[in-house]
Amino acid sequence: MEFVTVIMAAGKGTRMKSELPKVLFKACGKPMIDWVLEACSVKNRPIVVVGHKKEDVIAKIKGKADYVVQDEQKGTGHAVSMAMDYLKNNADGYTIVLAGDMPLIKKDTINKLKEMAKSGYDGIVLTAKVDNPFGYGRIVRDESGKFVEIVEEKDASCEQRKINEINSSVYCIRTKLLIECLGKLGCDNAAGEYYLTDVIKILSSDYKISTLCTSFEECLGVNSKAQLAAASEVLRIRINNRHMENGVIIIDPNTTYIEDTVRIGADSTIYPNNILEGNTVIEEECVILQGNRIADSHIAKGATIQSSVITEAKVGENTTVGPFAYLRPKSVVGADCRIGDFVEVKNSSIDDGTKVSHLTYVGDSDVGKGVNIGCGVVFVNYDGINKHRSVVEDNCFIGCNTNLISPVKLGHGAYVAAGTTVTEDVESGALCIGRSRQTVKTDWNNKWKKERDK
Ligand code: UD1
Ligand code: CA
Repeated sequence: MEFVTVIMAAGKGTRMKSELPKVLFKACGKPMIDWVLEACSVKNRPIVVVGHKKEDVIAKIKGKADYVVQDEQKGTGHAVSMAMDYLKNNADGYTIVLAGDMPLIKKDTINKLKEMAKSGYDGIVLTAKVDNPFGYGRIVRDESGKFVEIVEEKDASCEQRKINEINSSVYCIRTKLLIECLGKLGCDNAAGEYYLTDVIKILSSDYKISTLCTSFEECLGVNSKAQLAAASEVLRIRINNRHMENGVIIIDPNTTYIEDTVRIGADSTIYPNNILEGNTVIEEECVILQGNRIADSHIAKGATIQSSVITEAKVGENTTVGPFAYLRPKSVVGADCRIGDFVEVKNSSIDDGTKVSHLTYVGDSDVGKGVNIGCGVVFVNYDGINKHRSVVEDNCFIGCNTNLISPVKLGHGAYVAAGTTVTEDVESGALCIGRSRQTVKTDWNNKWKKERDK
């Protein structure tokens, strides 16, 4: 049996009070429309109804779905009728209709609707029971419990508003009947819109219509930013549970924010207050201590990260980072390194076993293996116009409070005395001291005070 999918996503999302089209708001790092697309079957590309800021929505769904345009948003029924040509070309089976603002819908549930269709129903509405149904369409039944119609909040009587079974906005309808009924819709209601819900009402008198009741959680429609936060919370817990099932230790799932795209190896531990984003990979046995933001980065096996910000960077095996380090894009830190407190690294490589323990800036440079960089070292990479690269070869020792005026090269095993400003290359094995010689003026303090108090 053929199933085609139509996702309604043309609305502005007025209640979001935003310029961004509603379905592009992200929940756990992914636009809502993407969550819905992922729940759909991949066999037949879904058709997305776009309208408000359509270019933005089309750009986001490119390669994942086809689209039709609804120029004026005249209601959900009108939205689906925009896909009429497509429906007519695929009129044999069923159409699954979904709204683009329900990121919690699960693939399993959509499959259950399909199973029901196969067992001979002409239309099925996905519903849920909820304590506070405010804002949702209500499922009206007769005394025998048979489905009668869906009444919108705006159109409902006081009695109907008490109904706690709501319409999720997910339907599975025999396509031929959907085509027929879309043509019959009127807009004589409180919103003056063509309601898709009326299709079900029209069908219910003559055809086999049923409901499938699922958890309210799955049916949460995001109309406001508070609902976006509520949906994000559910997704966050789902993502965290998945990682825990895979063997990751998450100390406090409620304060652990992991985007859907992140991968984490077994036996890694994630402490509270971490934000892990984008294409981040954390290998096995890592310890992600409290308070990091790690985005689009690779953390190799056994690394320990604490209270740091890491973006588009790589951290090698068993390396420790932080607290309070900042690894900026194109930083590649090797294995067994130590990147300590208040160390910033940008567009630089730091090879295995090197220690940069405190208060240092490494920018646009290549640092070799086994190097020790003392406290307060600055790679002076910018002359106000251009950025320059420096090279520090293996086993160098750079004393505290050194400035390396880039471009400069320290040969293998070179030593730089504390307080030096290095302006020229240093050959292998040499000691470089670049500071003024110390002068001591004996009994200077007493003499100075006497002079002052004269
Ligand atoms: C809709 C349902 C309601 C259900 C609720 C579940 C109708 C009339 N009401 O109400 O019964 O309980 O969803 O969340 O269907 N859209 C378009 N074009 C339009 C209008 C809407 O594409 O002209 C899209 C929106 O972008 C959105 C979806 O359809 O993604 C639902 O529209 P929305 O305005 O959010 O409907 P609700 O008022 O939530
Ligand atoms: Ca909605």
